[in-house]
Amino acid sequence: MNELIIAPSVLSMDYSKMQEQTKALNESKAKWLHFDVMDGHFVPNLTFGAHILKGFHDSTNLYLDVHLMISDPIKYIPDFYKAGAHQITVHTESFNNDIHKIQEAIDLIHDYKMDAGFVVKPATSIEAFECLLDKVETILIMSVEPGFGGQKFMEEQLDKVRWLFQKRMEKNLSYRIEIDGGINFETAKKAIEAGADTLVAGSFVFKDNIPKRIEGLLK
Ligand code: DX5
Ligand code: ZN
Repeated sequence: MNELIIAPSVLSMDYSKMQEQTKALNESKAKWLHFDVMDGHFVPNLTFGAHILKGFHDSTNLYLDVHLMISDPIKYIPDFYKAGAHQITVHTESFNNDIHKIQEAIDLIHDYKMDAGFVVKPATSIEAFECLLDKVETILIMSVEPGFGGQKFMEEQLDKVRWLFQKRMEKNLSYRIEIDGGINFETAKKAIEAGADTLVAGSFVFKDNIPKRIEGLLK
């Protein structure tokens, strides 16, 4: 059984209080930092690139979990490696769900000695990617439409978490089952019950006392 990990999402930080909030994260029980990269094309929003990640690399000891919501992930993998990423997850939809292309991206991430994962949007089913389960360290299930923080948790996405949990047992694998979007105390409990072991939490963590909220999610 994997240890439960909380991955606060940088997307919901208050950028006028970055120093203070980074300090709070460093003093919290969070082990990962989730970094949402959006290109305004794959999703209808723009965020940040590798040079901003470098700032987090230099100011935290957290494991940097980079979630690429971009149309051409291959092009930017080396930049995120250089900036200090520990893990990169790529969307299957960035490759039109083509298994061979997704596998190439996973291999490239591994060539750089980073952990690799794949992500599915709410409308994409997970079963088609069964042959990739033993190739990755993490599988990320979107429980909101990617693009924005603060959306409502889509409970039906927990079926994918249950499926991943079952397959992991059957195949004796150890990948992390990460869930992203709409996590709060109530939905965290449901996600953990379904088998998730890595919870991304954005607005819920940053809109109150950061270490307290993180600790609460771990309970
Ligand atoms: C959405 C991002 C999420 C987002 C989650 O596209 O992938 O990581 O930050 O935010 P909350 O926790 O507010 O739903
Ligand atoms: Zn994310």
